[in-house]
Amino acid sequence: MKILAIESSCDETACAVVEDGTKVLSNVVATQIDAHRLYGGVVPEIASRMHSESIYAVAQKAIEDANCTLKDTDAVAVTYAPGLIGALLVGISFAKGLAMAAGKPLIPVHHIAGHIAANYISHSDLKPPYLCLVISGGNTNIVHVENYTKFTVLGRTRDDAAGEALDKAARMIGFEYPGGKYIDEAAKKGDPTAFSFPHPKVAGSEFDFSFSGLKTAVVNLVHNAQQRGDELSQCDIAASYQKTVCDILVQKTMLAADRYGFKKLSVVGGVSANSGVRAAMEKACGERGIKLYLPELKYCGDNAAMIGCQAYYDYLAGRRADESLNGIATLPLDSIYGE
Ligand code: KG4
Repeated sequence: MKILAIESSCDETACAVVEDGTKVLSNVVATQIDAHRLYGGVVPEIASRMHSESIYAVAQKAIEDANCTLKDTDAVAVTYAPGLIGALLVGISFAKGLAMAAGKPLIPVHHIAGHIAANYISHSDLKPPYLCLVISGGNTNIVHVENYTKFTVLGRTRDDAAGEALDKAARMIGFEYPGGKYIDEAAKKGDPTAFSFPHPKVAGSEFDFSFSGLKTAVVNLVHNAQQRGDELSQCDIAASYQKTVCDILVQKTMLAADRYGFKKLSVVGGVSANSGVRAAMEKACGERGIKLYLPELKYCGDNAAMIGCQAYYDYLAGRRADESLNGIATLPLDSIYGE
C-alpha cells in the first residue's frame, strides 16, 4: 500500500511516498529555517504563507521521486495535530483536496505518533511493546508504546520542551535559531564541568520534566557575566548545559525503564540527533542491557516519511478522516491513541 504523506505542522513543508509503512519511496523536505532565523524563532504567519507557497511543488517532487503518479497511491495522510494552527491547516486543506479529487482515503496523523514511527523505518526489528523518549522542539514525552496505535504517556514536560531549552540557551550564548545543533558542535570543544546548572524537581510525577528553570539559569549566568564585564566560554557553557539536559533526560527515562522492566528503548524527535544525547543513552542502556534504537539523522527532525509510516498503522487500525477534518494546535498523544 502506497501512502502520500504530508507534514506542515511547524517550519518544514514535507511530503513523502511510503509503501507498506516502512519502505520510503521518496522524502522531500523544504525547510523555512532561513526565513525565521532573522526573528530568532518561528513566526507563525510566515510559516503558513511559506507552506502555501511551496506545498504543491514539494508534493509534486515527492510523487516524481517515488516514480509514480497520484493515481498509483492508495491513500493520502496528513499531520492534523499538534502544531501551529495556520501551518497545519495548509497541509490539511491540501491533503483534503488531493484525497477528494483522486478519490483516495484520507488518514489523519498525530505529529508525535509520526516521530515515534520514525524508528520503524530504520529498524525492522523494532516492534512494540517498548519505551520511547520523544524529544523535539515542541514536545518531551516518555511513552509506553503498547502497540502501533496505543500509547500511554508516562511522563511529559510541564513547561518547555528539551529542544526549546537548548534553542534558548543557544540564543543566549550567541548562536542563531534553531541553536540545538550549534550547542551540540560547541559542546564537543567545551568542558562539561565548567558550570553547574540546576536539575529541576517536579512535584507529583517522577517521570515528568521541567526545563524552564534551566532556561532561566542560563539567562542569569549570561546576564550576570555581562554586568560584571566577564567573558564566558561559549563552548564551556554549551558543554555544561548540554550535559545537564542529557543527565535529566537519561535519569527520568532510565527510571521509567527500570520501574517497568523495559528492555527496548527508542529515542526520537529533533533532539535525538544530538551527539551528547545519543552517547549518554548508549551508555545508560549498555549498563542495563537495554537495546537502544535511534533514528537515522534524516528522520530525527520533522519529515513526512515518518507520517507516512504511522499513517499505515493508523489505516490498518481503521482511522480515517473526511472533509470535516480540522487542525488541532494542542492534542495530547494519549487522548487519541489511549484506547
Ligand atoms: O522534531 P523537530 O524537528 O521539530 C519538532 O517537532 O518540534 O525538532 C526541532 C528541535 C529544535 O529545538 C532543534 O534545535 C533540535 O530539534 N535539534 C537539536 C539538534 N538538531 C536539531 N538539538 C540538539 N542537538 C542537535 N544536533
